[in-house]
Amino acid sequence: MTHHPADTDVDVMLRVNGSARRLRLDSRVTLLDALRDELDLTGTKKGCDQGACGACTVLLDGKRVLSCLTLAAQCEGREVTTIEGLAADGRLHPVQEAFIRHDGFQCGYCTPGQIVSAVALLQEGRAGSDEEIREFMSGNLCRCGAYPNIVAAIREVAGQGSE
Ligand code: FES
Ligand code: FES
Repeated sequence: MTHHPADTDVDVMLRVNGSARRLRLDSRVTLLDALRDELDLTGTKKGCDQGACGACTVLLDGKRVLSCLTLAAQCEGREVTTIEGLAADGRLHPVQEAFIRHDGFQCGYCTPGQIVSAVALLQEGRAGSDEEIREFMSGNLCRCGAYPNIVAAIREVAGQGSE
């Protein structure tokens, strides 16, 4: 979005992947565009930009949201976690490792959203069975049809936690 000072501009402080980020942006800018265009966090993908594909999934205060449907200005003071924030100390998140082991992606476009969604689903305790995983991952579309491998990856991480 072209940026020009207007009386719709607002100051927003977001905590993104653990760091306080201060932004001045139009009150209508989505969290997705703020992350990608203002903060250069392009791991979060813009698929449909209208809430239908899940490619833009991030965690807001630990809960998954579609960042294309969330206004950045609504996130004042809140904690945003993107795919870039999941790996800690140079080590991949266990869900990222499982996706690699199980070939949970082909083109990779949907993958950041799938992984962020999977992390939330595991935290919510919603990965008890393949059916449950499929149901709670149903907002994350994959044009490549990697679903069986995605479910296998999530099931593996869920099993590590409970056995
Ligand atoms: S880009 Fe947000 S749901 Fe598709
Ligand atoms: S891996 Fe290509 S869209 Fe899912």
